[in-house]
Amino acid sequence: MRVNSLSLISYRNYDQLDLELKPGINLFFGKNGQGKTNLVEAISFCSTLSSHRSPNSSLIASDKTTASIGTVIENNQKALRLGVEINKDAANRFSLNGNIVKRSSEILGLLTSVIFSPEDIDLIRRDPQTRRSFLNNLEIQLKPAYYKTLQDYDRVLKQRNTLLKSARGKPNVDLSTLGLWDENLIELSVKIITAREELITKLLPLIQKNYDEISSAENRILIQQQNNFEINYQQSADDLKKSLQQTIETQRQNELDRGVTLVGPHRDEVLITLNGLTAKEHASQGEAWSLALSLKIASAELISEVSDTGQPVMILDDVFSVLDTTRRDALTSFVTGYEQVLITAAVEQDVPIESAMNKFSISGGQVE
Ligand SMILES: Nc1ncnc2c1ncn2[C@@H]1O[C@H](COP(=O)(O)OP(=O)(O)OP(=O)(O)O)[C@@H](O)[C@H]1O
Ligand SMILES: [Mg+2]
Repeated sequence: MRVNSLSLISYRNYDQLDLELKPGINLFFGKNGQGKTNLVEAISFCSTLSSHRSPNSSLIASDKTTASIGTVIENNQKALRLGVEINKDAANRFSLNGNIVKRSSEILGLLTSVIFSPEDIDLIRRDPQTRRSFLNNLEIQLKPAYYKTLQDYDRVLKQRNTLLKSARGKPNVDLSTLGLWDENLIELSVKIITAREELITKLLPLIQKNYDEISSAENRILIQQQNNFEINYQQSADDLKKSLQQTIETQRQNELDRGVTLVGPHRDEVLITLNGLTAKEHASQGEAWSLALSLKIASAELISEVSDTGQPVMILDDVFSVLDTTRRDALTSFVTGYEQVLITAAVEQDVPIESAMNKFSISGGQVE
């Protein structure tokens, strides 16, 4: 698939932008802080309804209360117009071909993209949140209904935590409503855990294959969801439900003492190991980058394989500046041949691509 045009209003440092994009490679270059990342982030936002950098509120131009992103996308010669309105003080709104759609899931899965950026190293090095988000953002693009599952889970979690907090330290508190929140939490937990489990199963062979191609060393990669209670995630949905229920019961007092939900996929680790050693702590810088790239490339391959959109838009945000020659070459050869590739760079010469490119220069939120 590809993006034919992008319009922005009050999006970060863009007052207003109307830009035509081309199939093939589009290169955006310009000095630091001019709006290169902002531009590609806006496209990526339409794929996951989240930014790879910061909370959604920061996307609205600092002196405004609403930001809009409009795109015309093309997939199998069929064009669609997507609209996203990000509001500071109200719910976000979405439109498809000019008609407001009720559910965010109606515009998800239409514009698929994979963004490579210098922050990708955090996937390996930083806290579990980054790895959970990686899986979540991919699953959202493959199965848009998953977005609602995550939203519902967040809501249940917040309400359950409020209840636990209000009960903290109070004797004889009425826990009857807590049972209802337990049920909701467990049902949504099972959905999230199984979705992530299925996704890991599909991704792992692709990740291993890409890692083997990028890296000369032989490293066996394993990826597993890990919870703090030794709950077996490989069991059937019914058994998983029972295990979660039992664990919640044994943790009841602990949760009441601490006033937070301790059981559930919001606290899970997505453990990545190389030859049995945790990548977060043991992988070398080169190994960590090879892994990070393999995860991203594998997600692009999976989207190409299973999504109706075919190939996702490949976004390379300033990533060549942080890669060494081996990994630059691997990434370059991977993206070559994709229907549309968007690349940003502060220095044009940093982009190791020889083939023809459509070039745009960005300065102060203006594109030429
Ligand atoms: N909500 C906002 N409102 C107004 N300006 C913003 C907002 N968010 C970010 N900016 C500004 O947008 C500018 C451009 O940011 P961007 O990250 O796109 O730069 P860049 O061209 O990618 O730079 P670099 O080469 O350093 O990566 C920054 O100067 C930043 O202050
Ligand atoms: Mg940038």
